[in-house]
Amino acid sequence: MKFRSILCSALLLAACTSRPAADGADPATHTEVTYGARIQLPAPPSRGGLTIDEALWRRASSRDFSAEPLSLEELSGVAWAAAGVNRAADNRLTAPSALALYPVTTYLFLPGGVYRYDAPAHALVRVAEGDHRALTGMQPFVACAAADLVFIADRAAYAGRPAIPAEHVRYLCGQDAAGYAENVNLYAAGHGLKSVTRGSAPESELLALLGLDPARHFFALALSVGR
Ligand SMILES: Cc1cc2nc3c(=O)[nH]c(=O)nc-3n(C[C@H](O)[C@H](O)[C@H](O)COP(=O)(O)O)c2cc1C
Repeated sequence: MKFRSILCSALLLAACTSRPAADGADPATHTEVTYGARIQLPAPPSRGGLTIDEALWRRASSRDFSAEPLSLEELSGVAWAAAGVNRAADNRLTAPSALALYPVTTYLFLPGGVYRYDAPAHALVRVAEGDHRALTGMQPFVACAAADLVFIADRAAYAGRPAIPAEHVRYLCGQDAAGYAENVNLYAAGHGLKSVTRGSAPESELLALLGLDPARHFFALALSVGR
């Protein structure tokens, strides 16, 4: 009898301390993010989440986010899905890029700061302190999504390609960013998270905050991810 009561208490404790097992979510790892000048992300696991087929069935845009933050492991998965290195020999990424120029950089707007994703180091490097999520879009939900990703293109990546007209550069960079975003949409669908790709943002204010030259950089796309 005593054994049964100990067993019941243990089961109750386990049920209360583990995260709700949303499909695809990994209840075993949920490290709280510690904000600082640099956040070293844990290596993304080589297996996890739903199958790619299941994720495709679940992929859908969401615009109703709770205030619950992403864990360090989820942040790692999101950043890596967007534009992480998956071939270390030549630093090629999880997303394709026209001419393999990789002109798009991923910025993560988090409750504790704005970070640039350093893909080879798989780390987040702080570029601005404070919560600037509201700046990443025109819709109110962007202020409470756990992470707003902003994809910024650098025209300089095309410097050696004078034959490509400026408008086509803009188009190709947008296509690159769409690949980044869709990778995250599928990661989110496969890991019990919500997401939405976003095409509108106050570009000049974003570039000013990030300290980027508008003659060289431009807003390509954004995405919100959370619960
Ligand atoms: C390039 C692009 C830009 C988008 N921009 C926005 C946006 O600014 N705001 C938004 O709420 N949804 C945006 N969406 C999401 C679409 O509205 C959404 O994909 C569409 O309604 C279809 O719904 P589904 O994604 O659930 O299939 C965008 C999607 C794409 C591909």
